[in-house]
Formats: sequence, C-alpha cells, structure tokens
Amino acid sequence: MKKSFLDYTLKIRLPLTLFVAVLSFLITFYVSRPERDGIGYAPEQPIHYSHKLHAGEMKIDCQYCHTGVTKGRHALVPSANICMNCHTVAKNKQPEIIKLTKYYNEKTTIPWKRIHKVPEYAYFNHSVHVNTGIQCETCHGNIADMEVVNQMRGWTMTACLDCHRNPEQQLPYLEKVNNGPTNCAACHR
Ligand code: HEC
Ligand code: HEC
Ligand code: HEC
Ligand code: HEC
Ligand code: HEC
Repeated sequence: MKKSFLDYTLKIRLPLTLFVAVLSFLITFYVSRPERDGIGYAPEQPIHYSHKLHAGEMKIDCQYCHTGVTKGRHALVPSANICMNCHTVAKNKQPEIIKLTKYYNEKTTIPWKRIHKVPEYAYFNHSVHVNTGIQCETCHGNIADMEVVNQMRGWTMTACLDCHRNPEQQLPYLEKVNNGPTNCAACHR
C-alpha cells in the first residue's frame, strides 16, 4: 500500500506537477513578454485612430492632444472632447466616428491601451526632458508615420542611463545639453 502510493507519486504525480509548472511558467513568460521588454508592442485600440493621418498628413501638433508634455510627469492621452472639436462634423457618418461620439455622449473615457510604461518604482518626467529640447522622436520613434503606435525602444534602466551618461550621442541636434542624473535617488524616489 505504502509502496504503491510512493510509486504513484514518483511516476505520475511528480512528473505531472513538474509538467504543469514548466508549462505555466513558459506561457506566462511568452504572454507577458511585450509588457516586460515592450519593444514592438502595438496593441489593438478601441478606435482606429491614426497618428499617420492626424499628426503626419494633417500636421496637427503633438501638444494639441498631449497637453502634459511641457508641464508635468505625464504626456496625457486626450479625452474625447478634444477629438470632437473636429469630429462633431468631420466624417461623422463613419462607424469609427459614431463609436467615438458614443463615448463622448456617454461621458465614458475611451479605454485606450497603454503602450509605453516604466514600473511604479521608477520616476520619469516628460516636462524635464521635453523642455530640455529632446524631441518626441528620439524616445518614441517617428510617431507621425505610424498608423498604429508601436513601441520603438525598451525602457530598461540601462536605456535611461545610456543617454544620461552620454547625451550628446543620442541628441546630436542639441547645441548644449547637460548630463542626466545617474544617482539612484533621482529615479527611485
Ligand atoms: C489628434 C490627437 C493626437 C495628436 C495630434 C497626437 N496624438 Fe499621440 N495619441 C493620441 C491618442 C488618442 C493616443 C492613444 C491611442 C493610440 O495609442 O493610438 C495617442 C498615443 C500616443 C503615444 C503612445 C501612448 C502610450 O500609451 O504609450 C505616443 C508615444 C504618442 N501618442 C505620441 C505622439 C506624438 C509624438 C505626436 C506628434 C508627432 C502625437 N502623439 C500626436 C492622440 C494624438
Ligand atoms: C483638427 C481636427 C481633428 C482632430 C482634433 C481629430 N481629428 Fe480625426 N479626423 C479629422 C479629419 C479631417 C479626418 C478625415 C481625414 C480624411 O479622410 O481625409 C479624420 C479622420 C479620423 C478617423 C477616420 C474616419 C474614417 O473612417 O474615415 C478616425 C477614426 C479619427 N479621425 C479619430 C479621431 C480621434 C479618436 C481623435 C481624438 C484623439 C481625432 N480623430 C481628432 C480631423 C480631426
Ligand atoms: C526622454 C524620452 C522621452 C521623450 C523625449 C518623450 N517621451 Fe513620451 N514617454 C517616455 C517614457 C519613458 C514613457 C513611459 C512613462 C511612464 O510610464 O510614466 C512615455 C510615455 C508617453 C505617453 C503615454 C502616456 C503618458 O502620459 O505617460 C505619451 C502619450 C507620450 N509619452 C507622448 C510623448 C510626446 C508627445 C512627446 C514629445 C512632446 C514625448 N512623449 C517625449 C519617454 C519619452
Ligand atoms: C535621449 C536622452 C534621455 C533619455 C532616453 C532619458 N533621459 Fe532622463 N534626462 C536626460 C537629460 C539630458 C537630462 C538632464 C536635463 C537637464 O538637467 O538639463 C535628464 C534628466 C532626468 C532626470 C532629472 C530631472 C527630474 O525629472 O528630476 C530624471 C529623474 C530622469 N532624467 C529620468 C529618466 C528616466 C527614468 C529615463 C528612462 C525611462 C530617462 N530619464 C531617459 C536625457 C534622457
Ligand atoms: C536614469 C534613471 C535611473 C537611475 C539613475 C537608476 N535607475 Fe534603477 N531603474 C530605472 C528604471 C527605469 C528601472 C525599470 C527597468 C525595467 O523595467 O526594466 C529601474 C530598475 C531598477 C531595479 C530593478 C531591477 C532591474 O534591473 O530591472 C533596481 C534594483 C534598480 N533599478 C536599482 C538602482 C540602483 C541601485 C541605482 C543607483 C546605482 C539605480 N537603480 C539608478 C531607472 C534608474
């Protein structure tokens, strides 16, 4: 009785437990990969909004919609009323604009999926970087040419520090630029 129980444990239970453990690790590893390294992450959005059309062809300024970039930590994603400045009239019979109008009328925030993200324990502030003269493209790639926003670079600690130690290399277009901080407390406060 005791022996057959041990047999069962060794031959069936243990391999099965290991198999499930390894499988769930692998699944978690691959499924969460985009959020961890981020490069190439381009989730489908609730409305097919195109930067290529609005920021590229129509040349709407980034700050018309991302109003926080010179003022604070977050660039901010615009609420539906900014879109409705134009779309109460523009293309208002199109299905995507009908969807947009519905969010607006029901006063619900559009559930845009977040793409670029540093973890909670790290501190990043747009205004400091943008007011220094660093262009959006240096960190986000050529958004004005993207139909769907796609993350161009990863935000590991090394990625931040590479520029902080050697800003001239990534910012050849600036005449003068200070080094960014490399002390831990600057980014982990
Ligand atoms: C008409 C409004 C509008 C304009 C103009 C605009 N954006 Fe956006 N932007 C959005 C909206 C809405 C989203 C969220 C949906 C998406 O990701 O496409 C967004 C998302 C983004 C994101 C990704 C946010 C995240 O979740 O990480 C970046 C980066 C960005 N915009 C940069 C830019 C840059 C750079 C410009 C100028 C070249 C620009 N945007 C112009 C409306 C705008
Ligand atoms: C400054 C005016 C303006 C703003 C602000 C604006 N749009 Fe547009 N948008 C337009 C115009 C004009 C078109 C049509 C362009 C064309 O087809 O030539 C358009 C086209 C679109 C389309 C494609 C519609 C279709 O199916 O043909 C979508 C979707 C869209 N906009 C969503 C948005 C969203 C979401 C926002 C806010 C984040 C926004 N727009 C902000 C002017 C604007
Ligand atoms: C020095 C690099 C850098 C520059 C320059 C930069 N960004 Fe970002 N951006 C980031 C990082 C890093 C994040 C993730 C921030 C976080 O998680 O708090 C981000 C996030 C965003 C987001 C997501 C929402 C938010 O508010 O955090 C938007 C939208 C955005 N950036 C737009 C812009 C625009 C528009 C510009 C130019 C005016 C710009 N960024 C310039 C690095 C940069
Ligand atoms: C392309 C270059 C570049 C990248 C990428 C970059 N930085 Fe910076 N950062 C700078 C420069 C330049 C300064 C110094 C500005 C000054 O003092 O004139 C700075 C300053 C700072 C400061 C000090 C100002 C403040 O907000 O308190 C912090 C914190 C910071 N960066 C965090 C980050 C983090 C976190 C990342 C990565 C997610 C990052 N930076 C990525 C160039 C960069
Ligand atoms: C320029 C900003 C910046 C500075 C300076 C900085 N860090 Fe970080 N650190 C980050 C960011 C951003 C992350 C998140 C990285 C990620 O998601 O991969 C991070 C992540 C970490 C982590 C988590 C593990 C990892 O590597 O992802 C530890 C631990 C850490 N930092 C310790 C430190 C220590 C110790 C110092 C001082 C020697 C320091 N950091 C200085 C931006 C910074």
